[in-house]
Amino acid sequence: MAWQLKKTVVMVGMMGAGKTAVGKALAQELGVQFLDSDEEIVKAANMSIAEIFERDGEPFFRDKETQVIERLLEGERCILSTGGGAFLSDRNRELISQKGVSVWLNADLELLWNRVKHKDTRPLLRTADPHATLRELYRARVPFYRQADLMVDTQAEFSIEDTANAVVQA
Ligand code: S3P
Repeated sequence: MAWQLKKTVVMVGMMGAGKTAVGKALAQELGVQFLDSDEEIVKAANMSIAEIFERDGEPFFRDKETQVIERLLEGERCILSTGGGAFLSDRNRELISQKGVSVWLNADLELLWNRVKHKDTRPLLRTADPHATLRELYRARVPFYRQADLMVDTQAEFSIEDTANAVVQA
């Protein structure tokens, strides 16, 4: 049976936390639509996130991110996964708090690192010391993620479904 969501459920948190994987499982479990702000940006620009950062810069990407989040929150209620930097913007947090319920998917730094270290898709980690960059991003971002309505911890031994169930419980 499909759930009637009262609000769009917005997944926030660091890259590698599993926002997309858990969001998809959650949407399937609840019988509602899943959307991903990064995917929508890529579709509209017809370029990868890395290409957008390279060609147009991060501020341009952040503008597009806000536009996409605003548009998706206007649509039917759904599970919406956002990029790791989305919840840092005052405007995005305001939009999300008006139309959605935010869920911070938290994971410890080493789990995040294990998940992102082999992938070259995240432009912010293209630095001389990506592990240190990830640690610094985590440190700087936690105060923003803490402002989410709900927090769900994920751990290496949790399956995607377990984590999705934890979100439902929360
Ligand atoms: C970003 C995370 C990425 C993507 C972009 C910027 C960030 O999304 O939006 O590379 O600032 O942390 P994921 O969190 O899905 O990796």
